[in-house]
Amino acid sequence: MAGDPSTPGLAAAVSAAGGLGFLAAGYKPAERVAAELAAVRAATDRPFGLNMFVPGGRPPDPAAVRAYRESLAGEAARYGVPLGEPRADDDGWAAKLELAATVPVASFTFGCPAAADIARLRRAGTLVLVTVTHPAEAVHAADAGADALCVQGVEAGGHRGSFGEGLTDLALLPLLTLVRAAVDLPLLAAGGIMTAAGVRAVLAAGATAAQCGTAFLPATEAGTPAAYRAALTDPARTTALTRAFSGRWARGLTNRFLLEHVGAPAGYPAIHHSTSPLRRAAAAAGDPEGMALWAGQGHPLAHAAAAADLVDELTP
Ligand SMILES: Cc1cc2nc3c(=O)[nH]c(=O)nc-3n(C[C@H](O)[C@H](O)[C@H](O)COP(=O)(O)O)c2cc1C
Repeated sequence: MAGDPSTPGLAAAVSAAGGLGFLAAGYKPAERVAAELAAVRAATDRPFGLNMFVPGGRPPDPAAVRAYRESLAGEAARYGVPLGEPRADDDGWAAKLELAATVPVASFTFGCPAAADIARLRRAGTLVLVTVTHPAEAVHAADAGADALCVQGVEAGGHRGSFGEGLTDLALLPLLTLVRAAVDLPLLAAGGIMTAAGVRAVLAAGATAAQCGTAFLPATEAGTPAAYRAALTDPARTTALTRAFSGRWARGLTNRFLLEHVGAPAGYPAIHHSTSPLRRAAAAAGDPEGMALWAGQGHPLAHAAAAADLVDELTP
């Protein structure tokens, strides 16, 4: 869970409790990821995973990004900060791939690594997971040599891992059923799973494991800011898919920013960098209306507890 929620303490606590904790590499410099990996290793000798963003995808339309940035002038004035540079980058891909070769499990989102990169990781002893949101993406990842797939339904919190064309909106159960029929790999089901009964349901539908994000946002060890934690169970909020914060589709709790910028174009990572100072300023002010409050559809059941207790609760 890239951004504030992911901490070495959370990943280590989940793994120590018998789950498979993941450290997010996304958005961070590779040097910080290396330091955080050391912290996870110092805290547990159990296996854990590292999650990375795969660069690439269709380049955004510069005119659409420019127009969207102009529409954010009021936000910059509201939070008293300039927009960030709309730069393109690859999130430190090469350096993070080196780090991925040192961990037991590496998972990828936003794309499928090249077959040669997957083969190199597997030779290094790293199990490779690729996130998919459509059966065609599952076939692509299987052909590229992935060991297993994270099957992410549209219910899921955070960014869609999609790398095919267009927005796919398959809910977890039909997606899992279609992917199960398309490929013969272990599947980790993700999206809206908040209880042990939910875990049992995806196991019955053909998954080998469940992947939970939102359930761990209020964990004691998570870095989730207080205003974000409070918003998770605010009865006035639902979730929606939005490109307003990053230029990539992601599911978050409804707030002022999301609702006022429903027409945001594709434009990752230019829009992510553009809105970053706004989101930081909103977070510093404790204002959930300008923060990216990523959450899945099961968010009302999120509750604070030590990560080990949450793992226990979710274990069928
Ligand atoms: C706050 C947050 C941040 C996330 N960041 C990432 C990420 O960095 N990489 C990734 O592969 N998935 C990320 N996800 C998606 C999760 O891997 C997973 O698909 C999702 O949390 C499952 O749905 P759920 O939140 O309803 O449990 C994130 C989800 C949330 C809620």
